[in-house]
Amino acid sequence: MRLVSGNQLLKLLGIENPIIQGPMGGGPSTPELVAAVSNAGGLGSLGAAYLTPDQMTDAIRRIRTLSSRPFNVNLFVGGWSTNSDFDAGPMLELLGEIHQKLGLPPPVAPTPAPDPFPAQFEAVLDARVPIFSFTFGIPDRDAMSRLKGRGIAILGTATTVEEARRLEQAGVNAIVAQGLEAGAHRGTFLDSSESSMVPTLELVRATASAVSLPVIATGGLMDGRDITQASLEPARCRRGISSRGCYSEINARCSRMVA
Ligand SMILES: Cc1cc2nc3c(=O)[nH]c(=O)nc-3n(C[C@H](O)[C@H](O)[C@H](O)COP(=O)(O)O)c2cc1C
Repeated sequence: MRLVSGNQLLKLLGIENPIIQGPMGGGPSTPELVAAVSNAGGLGSLGAAYLTPDQMTDAIRRIRTLSSRPFNVNLFVGGWSTNSDFDAGPMLELLGEIHQKLGLPPPVAPTPAPDPFPAQFEAVLDARVPIFSFTFGIPDRDAMSRLKGRGIAILGTATTVEEARRLEQAGVNAIVAQGLEAGAHRGTFLDSSESSMVPTLELVRATASAVSLPVIATGGLMDGRDITQASLEPARCRRGISSRGCYSEINARCSRMVA
C-alpha cells in the first residue's frame, strides 16, 4: 500500500518504500542490518555515534560490499560535555569504600574525552555516504555546506516544532520528527527534555504545518496501522492532500514492518 501522496522524500533518498530503519548507536544497527533494509527497498541507517573514524570507515565499506543501495549514517552532533568543573569528591569517596572492600586501587575521576564528532564527521565526508542524519543539535554552517558540496542528503532530528524550524533554517533536506514515544536516544537540543515531550502524531502534525520539508515520523510506530496513521497526519492538519508527504521511520526492534 502506498502511504504517501508525493514521492519527494523517496526521490531524495533514492529508495522505493517509505520505511527508514532507525539508527541505533552502540551496535544494534550492524552493517548487515543496514544493508538488509536497504536491499529490501527501505533505508538502512548505521548508528555510528560510538564508533571511531576507522571503525566507521570499515562499517561503511562493509555496507557497500553487501548492498549497492543508498544507506544512511547517523552521528550525535551535540550534547557532548567536556565540563570538568564539578566536584567528584563525594562520588570518589563512596566508590573508594567499595574499591577498598574489593581490594582495588583507589578510584580516580576520568578526564573528559574530547568531542568525537569532528573526526567522525570527516569520516562521513571522506566516505561520501549518500545520506547523513544527526541528532542532539545542528552541524555548523561550514559542516552543512561541506555535506551539500558532496551531494549528501541531510536529515535532522527534531523533538519540538521550534527545533524543526531551526533545522529547516540550517538547510536540512528532511526532518525526523521524534515523538516522546521514541525509545533510547531522543535528540532534544533546544529546551529541557521534560519540556520537549511531544507525542509522535502531534509532533508530526505540527511540524508538517510549520516547515516546508518532508517529515519523517519516529517513535512508537509498531505496525502498518501506526504507519498509516502517521502518514495521514500532515494531510489531516492541512485539510487536504499533503504535497510533502509523511514517512515512517520504524525501529528494527519492531517485529512487524508492514507498510
Ligand atoms: C538502542 C537504541 C539506540 C538508538 N540510538 C540512536 C542513535 O544513535 N541515533 C539516533 O538518531 N537515534 C537513536 N535511537 C532512536 C531511534 O533511531 C528511533 O528514533 C527510535 O527508536 C524510534 O522509537 P521506537 O523505539 O518507539 O521505535 C536509538 C534507539 C534505540 C532503541
